[in-house]
Amino acid sequence: MHEPKRTRPSPWREFLFAGMVASYAALSVVAYTDYPREPGPELSARQRTGLEVWRRHNCQVCHQIHGFGGFLGPDLTNLVDEDREDEEFASILTEGYGSMPALHLSPEDQRAVLAFLRAMNRTGRSQPRPNAAKKPVPPMKHWKALMEEGASEAPSDRVRRGADLVTSSACGACHVPLMQGFQRAPDLTRAALDRSPGAIGPILAGGRRVMPSYDFTPEQVGQIADFLEWCARNRAELVRRNDAMLQRDGLSWKDLPWWEYR
Ligand code: HEC
Ligand code: HEC
Repeated sequence: MHEPKRTRPSPWREFLFAGMVASYAALSVVAYTDYPREPGPELSARQRTGLEVWRRHNCQVCHQIHGFGGFLGPDLTNLVDEDREDEEFASILTEGYGSMPALHLSPEDQRAVLAFLRAMNRTGRSQPRPNAAKKPVPPMKHWKALMEEGASEAPSDRVRRGADLVTSSACGACHVPLMQGFQRAPDLTRAALDRSPGAIGPILAGGRRVMPSYDFTPEQVGQIADFLEWCARNRAELVRRNDAMLQRDGLSWKDLPWWEYR
């Protein structure tokens, strides 16, 4: 009789199993010990009333604070800051809009819940907004402001006049400098674009899709072309100055939350 030869299972399985058990234990420790835990913000009496309003109306079912909550409505952590007036939110908190229900909050409750949201805003940034401007420039004035930030190539008089025309014609309402703008208006400084007066003249005179038509003299078209060309030539430098002017936050991977990102 032959005894079937017994082979010992190879040890890597045991290692793998031990590794998985250890990971499970470690994960449990991480998940159930909330360390180091920062104390929550101290709430004033009004802010605390606001928290009660927040709970009574179940705002968190639809809204998030620091990413936690329902996703029907927007994250409200950083919506209400010191610059925003309570009145701006009065109609939203009374009549609602879109999928936000009409909650008919009393003026007292509105002030309280907004005070609570202001306190939340001070606890930090909820969603990283890479490239969001901390100091935005009004769209109509953006091109001019950008030119005034300067570049090593000083703008000529024609370039300056072009910037004035672009500003007074409100091109910035759609064309955001150095990027694609609203209504999918293209970046007018990108390399491939033909900015010669011969190319942009007919576009300005005839309009395009949502872009209106303009009554510019050939001289003015030339100035606009010169201005856009100056922007394109100095693009790299202008991008840097623009970011500094707007105080843009760069993207930092460590700011990305591990919860749903949108
Ligand atoms: C049933 C879900 C729901 C509840 C409950 C709810 N909201 Fe909303 N809320 C929304 C939605 C959805 C929007 C966005 C509306 C839209 O864009 O159509 C919104 C918008 C808002 C806005 C405007 C956001 C902006 O970007 O301008 C504020 C402020 C707001 N809600 C506050 C509250 C507060 C405070 C409560 C509780 C007292 C609350 N909401 C309860 C769904 C809800
Ligand atoms: C209401 C929004 C709006 C305004 C205001 C506007 N534009 Fe436009 N512009 C657009 C859109 C959208 C397009 C792209 C049209 C298309 O899809 O072909 C465009 C296209 C252009 C193009 C052609 C770009 C290409 O890729 O060929 C030039 C040049 C241009 N705009 C310059 C200007 C200038 C200069 C002004 C101000 C005098 C101006 N635009 C004002 C929306 C606008």
